[in-house]
Amino acid sequence: MKYTKKQIEEAIKYWEGKLFESERPEPAFEFYKGAQALESLSDAEIAEIAGLRRQLYEMEKKTWLGVGVSIPTEEPCTEAGVRESLAESPYTVVARLDGKVVGFLLTSNEKYQFLMPGNVYLDEDCVDENVRGLGIGTKMVAFAMKMCRAEGVRQFSASVDVTNAASERTLLKNGFKPIQKEYVCSQ
Ligand SMILES: CC(C)(COP(=O)(O)OP(=O)(O)OC[C@H]1O[C@@H](n2cnc3c(N)ncnc32)[C@H](O)[C@@H]1OP(=O)(O)O)[C@@H](O)C(=O)NCCC(=O)NCCS
Repeated sequence: MKYTKKQIEEAIKYWEGKLFESERPEPAFEFYKGAQALESLSDAEIAEIAGLRRQLYEMEKKTWLGVGVSIPTEEPCTEAGVRESLAESPYTVVARLDGKVVGFLLTSNEKYQFLMPGNVYLDEDCVDENVRGLGIGTKMVAFAMKMCRAEGVRQFSASVDVTNAASERTLLKNGFKPIQKEYVCSQ
């Protein structure tokens, strides 16, 4: 069987990741319930989350523009915007590496309540682009679910852009099953 150059490059990339798994950075994850996040995070950390959120929004903006939808990015990426979201998030996770925030995950308890009472919706998460692909996103979702389960949560849901393979993997690897496709029309 003959492999293409692209397949070989992908295989090398995959196995490099596996071989060096033991050398991957181990972030410290922290779980906050409701108002704890706002009370505990410093101004500098809120600013770091705002920076990560900008990375996330800039990426999503491109995806949505691809289907003709222009999404506003400014307000959520400000520190005030982050504070507002933290105040609304029932459970929040922050990942720190060497004292710096390199990931965050926010939740919501508003989505799908009519279908799954008590459902916790994983609303948004982001890992710093400098340390992506090292397993942090997958571990952050696992940690969030473990901590939520300890609080009695039994149902989780999330949405993923169809172009976002990395995000989809973090969910599939944590036991999520695909159930729906969402469509938009901007004309
Ligand atoms: C989604 C995100 C949080 C994942 O975090 P991460 O730390 O990079 O995730 P992991 O390292 O745990 O990788 C998860 C899986 O995705 C795969 N992956 C990573 N980047 C990928 C890419 N660009 N394309 C395809 N797969 C990718 C990894 O190989 C891994 O799968 P594997 O274990 O089977 O090899 C991160 O990519 C990110 O912050 N993206 C921008 C924001 C975003 O899209 N958030 C989600 C929507 S709110």
